[in-house]
Amino acid sequence: MVGYGAGITGVGSFLPKKVMTNSDLEKIVDTSNEWIIERTGIKERRIAEDDMATSDLSAIAAQRAMENAGIVPEDIDLILVATITPDHLFPSTACMVQKHIGAINAAAFDINAGCTGFIYALTTAKAFIKSGIYRKILVIGSEALSKIVNWKDRNTCVLFGDGAGACIVEPCEEGFGMIAEELGSDGRKGDVLIVPAGGTRKPTSLETVEEGLNFIEMDGREVFKFAVRIMGKSSKSVLKKANLKTEDIDLLIPHQANIRIIDSALKKLNLSKEKVFVNLDKYGNMSAASIPVALDEALKVKKLKKGDNLLLVAFGAGLTWGSIVLKWNKED
Ligand code: ACO
Repeated sequence: MVGYGAGITGVGSFLPKKVMTNSDLEKIVDTSNEWIIERTGIKERRIAEDDMATSDLSAIAAQRAMENAGIVPEDIDLILVATITPDHLFPSTACMVQKHIGAINAAAFDINAGCTGFIYALTTAKAFIKSGIYRKILVIGSEALSKIVNWKDRNTCVLFGDGAGACIVEPCEEGFGMIAEELGSDGRKGDVLIVPAGGTRKPTSLETVEEGLNFIEMDGREVFKFAVRIMGKSSKSVLKKANLKTEDIDLLIPHQANIRIIDSALKKLNLSKEKVFVNLDKYGNMSAASIPVALDEALKVKKLKKGDNLLLVAFGAGLTWGSIVLKWNKED
């Protein structure tokens, strides 16, 4: 489709107030502040209140993104929520967000692609815009991971945090916005990062609860190896599609899981540290929310201007991966 691009015209985010530091975790599991910082780079994370579900975090981020784009809820044609921590098995979290914000004219559905969810959702939004089906799409990456973390498992509970980021995607000037994307998955590796029970494979029962099977389980080393390999590979592949070289990238926003994964991706891409935006020290891994929250913060500290080349890259449960190159279309 020619004539116009699909770009981000508004961004917003929301982080719960409650901060959980590494020292707080030392009181819960056998870990240390030094271990967590050295092995992950994380210093603290945010925790949603007991009465706050993913759609509640999402709605606040969405309102901020709509204000930033200068639109009202009634303008929205479609709501996409990328999450692995939905309010319910059904209805979708996107429908819950629709209710909260009053986007009465929108269709709504969720996307589950693990931590790559936001990249999948942005790409889906682009397809709807470029096909002419919709003109104003609310894309949200949002997680309340603290609710599905096993607080007795030091291998996982130190890694995750809660938060939400949202974008408005609309038609934009041709040659700007999302110019190339690459999505991938390998379902054979589904078991390395999983919530084993609570679905139709193993419905919730007294036993699943007693065995802790309704919480996140992860083979950290396998995910680490996969992440290191795929971040570089997917980035290179999408740059090629965009006809760009590494040196053309003005800003890289990677999925914020572990500073060692990001450092090794930088090495593979031969990209300098100044070109990468990192905030995982403050929030930990917020899965699908990581990239949109980081994007909002990067914009607030003026890391992007119109015409800059932005690379987003993520990996996650599935296993999945994805990357997008955007030529930033929004004026300050
Ligand atoms: N505190 C102290 N020690 C710990 C902790 C902890 N919190 N967690 C694990 N250890 C111990 C292990 O038990 C192990 O001890 P052992 O040698 O006696 O068995 C030792 O530390 C080393 O364990 P490793 O797993 O080798 O540690 P590693 O350096 O690989 O770091 C980590 C573990 C941080 C989980 C790393 O593997 C990682 O980041 N993996 C990727 C995780 C990730 O990105 N997940 C998100 C995917 S995205 C999504 O879709 C949700």
